[in-house]
Amino acid sequence: MNSAHVTGQSRFLDDIPELKDTLHAVVFGSPVAHGRITGADLSEARDLPGVVAIFAAADIPGENQIGGILPDEPLLAEEILHFRGQPVFLIVAGDAHTARQARSKIRLQYEILPAITDVEEAFEKGAFLFPPRTFRLGDVDAVWKDCAHIFEGSAATGAQEHLYLETQGAYAVPLENAAMKLYSSTQGPTLVQRIVARILGLAMHRIEVEVGRLGGGFGGKEDQATAWACLAALAAWHLHRPVKLLLSRHDDLYMTGKRHPYRSLYKIGLSEDLHILGYEATFLQDGGAAADLSPAILERTLFHATNSYFIPHVKATAYSCRTNVPPYTAFRGFGGPQALFVIEAAIAQAAESLGIPAHKIQEKNLLAEGDEFPYGQRAEAPRARACWERAKAAYDLPLREKEVEAFNRQSALLKKGLAMMPICFGISFTKTPMNQAGALVHIYQDGSIGLNTGAVEMGQGVHAKLMEVAGRALSVQPSRIKMEPTDTNRVANTSPTAASSGADLNGKAVQHACTQLLQRLLETAGKMLQSDPATLEIRGERVWLSGRPGDLTWEALVAEAFLQRVNLSAQGHYATPDIHFDRALEKGSPFAYHVYGTALVTATVDVLRGRYEIDRVEIVHDFGNSLHPAIDQGQLEGGLAQGIGWLTLEEVRYDAEGRLLSNSLSAYKVPDMGSAPKEVRYEMLNAAGPPLAILGSKAVGEPPFLYGIGAYHALRNAMRAFRPGLHLPFEAPLTPERLLLALYPSETDPL
Ligand code: MTE
Ligand code: HPA
Ligand code: MOS
Repeated sequence: MNSAHVTGQSRFLDDIPELKDTLHAVVFGSPVAHGRITGADLSEARDLPGVVAIFAAADIPGENQIGGILPDEPLLAEEILHFRGQPVFLIVAGDAHTARQARSKIRLQYEILPAITDVEEAFEKGAFLFPPRTFRLGDVDAVWKDCAHIFEGSAATGAQEHLYLETQGAYAVPLENAAMKLYSSTQGPTLVQRIVARILGLAMHRIEVEVGRLGGGFGGKEDQATAWACLAALAAWHLHRPVKLLLSRHDDLYMTGKRHPYRSLYKIGLSEDLHILGYEATFLQDGGAAADLSPAILERTLFHATNSYFIPHVKATAYSCRTNVPPYTAFRGFGGPQALFVIEAAIAQAAESLGIPAHKIQEKNLLAEGDEFPYGQRAEAPRARACWERAKAAYDLPLREKEVEAFNRQSALLKKGLAMMPICFGISFTKTPMNQAGALVHIYQDGSIGLNTGAVEMGQGVHAKLMEVAGRALSVQPSRIKMEPTDTNRVANTSPTAASSGADLNGKAVQHACTQLLQRLLETAGKMLQSDPATLEIRGERVWLSGRPGDLTWEALVAEAFLQRVNLSAQGHYATPDIHFDRALEKGSPFAYHVYGTALVTATVDVLRGRYEIDRVEIVHDFGNSLHPAIDQGQLEGGLAQGIGWLTLEEVRYDAEGRLLSNSLSAYKVPDMGSAPKEVRYEMLNAAGPPLAILGSKAVGEPPFLYGIGAYHALRNAMRAFRPGLHLPFEAPLTPERLLLALYPSETDPL
């Protein structure tokens, strides 16, 4: 797609040519999960030739606080160490190798304190990061007596490493006037600007943050890019020299937070005819050692407790537990996938107990127009059933089921399973004030266009989408438009590029700016052609008069507008209308719209070896009017693969002392071509997108991740084809090891 990537021209942080006198920094991280610092011997490290400085908490001129939502996280540890890898010292040297050597010579003295690494232990001890929250609809306690079937159980999902190709990093360049420019690999330039200003005790206008592009973020650089930028800035501020800090892969793996693991309890009640009448869920979120984005992620879990189903009586409670591992953080889906896993587990348990396929229950309960979510919003134009029906028909669910049954009858050692997976994902930042964006559009005298927005390009294609939006708004060729790097000096007060809303929010801001420019140009054209501007339009780089193409070209019009001293720059701003949420009531209408879809997943398990394959994933997805089908396809396939990885291969493990065991790519398996589904087919649901989606093109970054849950259930169903009465806890990831051990419980007991 992106030829600049393929030809190596794309510039990532580490490709920025270094200025003369640039220094390099590495971080000394806590060697224990929980401890009290009693002293430190830095002399040997300081004496190493090439070492320029070593900084600690006491060297921070402003406030030693990087918490974005809650102020509970120091940039550099003061007295207490809360997790292994927590930054304690910053070592600056002429080159990174020397800085790393110096790091190994630091002797930190500490007392070890008892560490909590188990979420249930944290829960029992009341170690919470912030108070729990509960969403309620109807009266769940009263409904159980009306239920013909009630099931209770538990479910657990694991952490997930982002494994962005580009590790975390920043390059800080001191400027005149006590100012600083930062190049940061961040999804949130304004957040970096705000926190660096806080750390240095400066006003925000002294800090400029520029982001060209990221080699992937996946949520891992929404909040957790900030610390590294602050550290580089701290050193640059003291030393008056440019400082670069780029984490090695190993440091990135053990120092940064991952997707939150959850342990959850559920209770589900159904009527005789399979309507879900009541659902109760208790989510234990493992938050790690500081709040980070956990409050917002916990909230999104509650918003997604019921997936794409209408359930009249619901109670969902979520706790965020403090443990001594790196703070868990945003990751594609932002707590939503964890919630969907639980409701799908509850439905699967009900189906298994009743001896029916889960899709019979799923299908009965899909959202319809006007249905109320537990948070008060009503489902508008819900496409849950449309996607479901289309998937069922297009991919012939009854035929697929027959094929699977026939295969399983004749095959002893390979077993197949299938699962339907409907999804529903709310689009907007759950924190209403974050749903705004800005754009700054310049038309140069020659008719070329510079486009500035707050959107960060991280491989998801938002820049291409925004160029498309500007191209359509001004009716010019995309080749006339240049996307500028994201920079806080040009577009201020931006939200991070996250919540899948980058194209919607920034695209609407671009439209707003372009509308102003277009109006000014049409007025100029009106004067030139002595016509009423209302009868004119610009189409295909030409001015049209009363619906007919004229001779006045885009270039000539722009050139004349410049001579007429017309302002050819415009700033646009957008704030999503009509969304709101009341935290006191836990009710409101927080989402601009929802994205729906249904996947049919088929998998084959080798019951002798525990190996498996995802044979086929067939999806009907609600893209709306896709602005860029190739990008949307990439997001669908990439999200799906990442979702499957989360639930099958990827296993993050910490030991009881909070040491990351899966700390290399030999110990942590991510999906590759060998484990990708053998076949992925998808169809765009033929339905127009809502007005709050940019040009009707629905947000696509996160929702497809949720289809991965279907792969978990397809595998589970294949296992049950081999062992019909199998007791298999709803625990992910379902790695080949775990799968094999589950298939042969008695054989493995003696171990
Ligand atoms: N796709 C690529 N290639 N790289 C990424 O880092 N991040 C995902 C998704 N798709 C990501 C990606 C996440 S977590 C989000 S929230 C969205 O992209 C953010 O971009 P958008 O708002 O423009 O969709
Ligand atoms: N999604 C992603 N990132 C966020 C959100 C959200 O809802 N809220 C705050 N940061
Ligand atoms: Mo995405 S987890 O909202 O960066």
